[in-house]
Amino acid sequence: MTVESVQPVTPDASEPAEPPFARGAVPLLGHGWKLARDPLAFMSRLRDDGDVVRLRLGPKTVYAVTAPDLTGALALSPDYHIAGPLWESLEDLLGKEGVATANGSLHRRQRRTIQPAFRLDAIPAYGPIMEEEAHALGERWRPGETLDCTSESFRVAVRIAARCLLRGAYMDERAERLCVALATVFRGMYRRMVVPLGPLYRVPLPANLKFNRALADLHLLVDEIVTERRASGQKPDDLLTALLEAKDDNGDPIGEQEIHDQVVAILTPGSETVASTIMWLLQILAEHPEHAARVRSEVESVTGGRPVGFDDVRRLTHTNNLIVEAMRLRPAVWILTRRAMTDTALGRYRIPAGADIIYSPYAIQRDARSYPEHLEFDPDRWLPERAKDVPKYAMSPFGVGNRKCPSDHFSMAQLTLITATVASKYRFEQAGGSDDATRVGVTLRPHRLLVKPVEW
Ligand code: HEM
Repeated sequence: MTVESVQPVTPDASEPAEPPFARGAVPLLGHGWKLARDPLAFMSRLRDDGDVVRLRLGPKTVYAVTAPDLTGALALSPDYHIAGPLWESLEDLLGKEGVATANGSLHRRQRRTIQPAFRLDAIPAYGPIMEEEAHALGERWRPGETLDCTSESFRVAVRIAARCLLRGAYMDERAERLCVALATVFRGMYRRMVVPLGPLYRVPLPANLKFNRALADLHLLVDEIVTERRASGQKPDDLLTALLEAKDDNGDPIGEQEIHDQVVAILTPGSETVASTIMWLLQILAEHPEHAARVRSEVESVTGGRPVGFDDVRRLTHTNNLIVEAMRLRPAVWILTRRAMTDTALGRYRIPAGADIIYSPYAIQRDARSYPEHLEFDPDRWLPERAKDVPKYAMSPFGVGNRKCPSDHFSMAQLTLITATVASKYRFEQAGGSDDATRVGVTLRPHRLLVKPVEW
């Protein structure tokens, strides 16, 4: 036997390596029990085990990406599609032909249809509705009363999305119904994703019946909106008109099911994410009165005391930084998934075709390797001279690449207007019975935030 033949084979450094398994797997359940028990802490610890790690979730192996540069590479690579357990359960409930779950040429065509409604130069047309809705909140709330932030935030988020994108007077009453339906659907959807009990959800228990009614009402509402718009013969310059006029790759009108699924696919992510972010902003204004006071004085210096308007948004830089910092520490979207379409690699790691991949914006945005004083709430870290030190892709609350949220400008404009309007009118205190612990669902939000507005 020659000496060479007993040498261990050294892996070729240029060949992608198998990612290590994360520590802490237990027999049978693997890492699943830790992920289910405390998903945020679990995802946040994974980077200590590697930039890409393998997880055992029951019988399945899932890949987790933990380093910011590799999440960017993942989102930008054509080797991965939107898929995985999160999206499959969404598709079953919400439809298979909407932009959030489609892939390939269907997705490209759908993005081309919806994109004009979200372009930077389209946003000013929504200004008057955003202003009206933000000021209506200030008017609705009375000093000293207890506000249920969940319903208030949902309400304003749904109203703005529905009134801006599906314009029409008929929207007012429907926006309320949409709110109720969406809130119930999201609660039930998360339960069905993390506890996939399949047939048990068909048993006619009160919770299942409530969920089914809400889901049916959501689909019915969308049908009503589409039918009424058609019957009106009107074609305002909005997203709904763009969808109704859209053509497929052969130049034929797109089908009814696709129109329906598209409206659902835009309204659902649009309301839950914005509503969760508004809840966190109210929690932060209550927790950090010093930052609330800075927002108020910025608004005063920009407006000189008149009501804040859409045209002020771009000058409210501290308010913007406060929102970005809120989204860093309390991101609405805390987990994203992809599936490898081919044998491929991420950094120096091998990813096999068919692999499900997860990554967590929550973990990436709280990583001490990317942020000094990483858990400190510090809006000034977004001042240009400091923001330049943040590693690339360490802060991407709207995602990256071809699946990037189309609504980044739309969302930031409304969040800035709402924050500026309510913080210049009131400071906030948490009310008795409030529970601001993080509730993990499809999005992250406070369990049950109750606040009292107090006049400055
Ligand atoms: C604070 C507010 C929001 C946040 C943080 C947010 C975040 C995100 C993220 C991270 C993605 C990318 C998912 C991925 O890469 O897998 C996404 C996609 C999407 N978002 Fe948003 N979003 C927000 C508001 C909205 C609003 C208001 C709308 C619509 C009215 C919307 C519609 C969509 C759609 C349709 C997609 C799918 C895009 C595609 O797959 O091509 N989002 N969002």
